Amino acid sequence: MTDLRERVARELERTRRRSAVLTEAVDDDDLIRQHSPLMSPLVWDLAHIGNQEELWLVRDVGGRDPVRADIDHLYDAFRHARKDRPALPLLGPKEARAYVATVRDKALDVLDRVHLEGRRLTEDGFAFGMILQHEQQHDETMLATHQLRAGEAVLSAPPPPPSTVDVRGEVLVPAGPFTMGTSTEAWALDNERPAHVVDVPAFFIDAAPVTNAQYAEFVAAGGSPPLHWTRDPGGWLATGFGRTAPIVPDAPVVHVSFHEASAYAAWAGRRLPTEAEWEKAARWDPATGRSRRFPWGDEDPGPQHANLGQRHLGPAPVGAYPAGASPLGVHQLIGDVWEWVGSDFTGYPGFTAFPYREYSEVFFGPEYKVLRGGSFGTDAVACRGTFRNWDYPIRRQIFSGFRTARDARPAELA
Ligand SMILES: [Fe+2]
Repeated sequence: MTDLRERVARELERTRRRSAVLTEAVDDDDLIRQHSPLMSPLVWDLAHIGNQEELWLVRDVGGRDPVRADIDHLYDAFRHARKDRPALPLLGPKEARAYVATVRDKALDVLDRVHLEGRRLTEDGFAFGMILQHEQQHDETMLATHQLRAGEAVLSAPPPPPSTVDVRGEVLVPAGPFTMGTSTEAWALDNERPAHVVDVPAFFIDAAPVTNAQYAEFVAAGGSPPLHWTRDPGGWLATGFGRTAPIVPDAPVVHVSFHEASAYAAWAGRRLPTEAEWEKAARWDPATGRSRRFPWGDEDPGPQHANLGQRHLGPAPVGAYPAGASPLGVHQLIGDVWEWVGSDFTGYPGFTAFPYREYSEVFFGPEYKVLRGGSFGTDAVACRGTFRNWDYPIRRQIFSGFRTARDARPAELA
């Protein structure tokens, strides 16, 4: 148990450093400004991170008195749409920083003293894992806000690694059952549960996400350019975090909507993979028939496996992560870009909401499409092979790309 508590404390600290980078890179005016009606002011995200930590770890798990019950309503994401948040009497930058620090001290004290066993919410440190992932998800949201903000570049990171292997074409995933979702991953969220067997007919899936060069051909044929692309006499430019440069031809395309991804696939004579196909390609081990935690195995993601955790501020070229490929040779399923799949966000058979309906269940239905695999902006702790993200199909301010798939023809299986 000491190990678990130490791990939680270490991850909370590491994650908070990232939140600090994202909120200290700009001045106070910039923090309270709304950079896009799709996004909250950064100062809202910061105090909201603290407020969720207070609600779950300090009050619920810890049974402690509220720090600031008076501000709960301001940071309830269901109460106020993002576009309305700048008009609220939000905590200012200085107050927000003091608030999250106070909450963190109390949460760490709770972590030291609480009994983790005997209550589902705290078993294996679940509530701490949930709050940790919540902050990491907001770190990705804040990174997306940075991408939408005008002005000079304020974030920097080394470029992603180069391509070292030639990855092209498609991979056959044979027909048969596989285990989708999880019942054993301690910090998996309710929508990833329970593990269940899905029989998937044979299909082909792209060995890599669709690249900028491939997507540019679709644009030339009449498709819409991704968000942040601009036309230059010499070709397409892309702006990332305040820097404009020619698109990287062999890097996965990013900032495309579900509709654009689907249109590309149709133009290419293909389709998006279903969510089950994506997960089978990512997790199914043909040698054992079991599902792995990640394409490369059960080991937590390292820098050799995937472009995660905001180590780099953009997707890596195709072929940059051979150590992260699946046994069948499907590359870069984890990290780089979220991949739209052709499935609605729904509950798995046997789904039960936990710890609250608003986490996932209220979003189930045809309005939302699923994205899988995480992006360069996603933390490794919040990116399992079973992890499911969802958004409106028109959205493209997120770090979204895709790969395509097709049915296998009987003659191809003989
Ligand atoms: Fe949130």
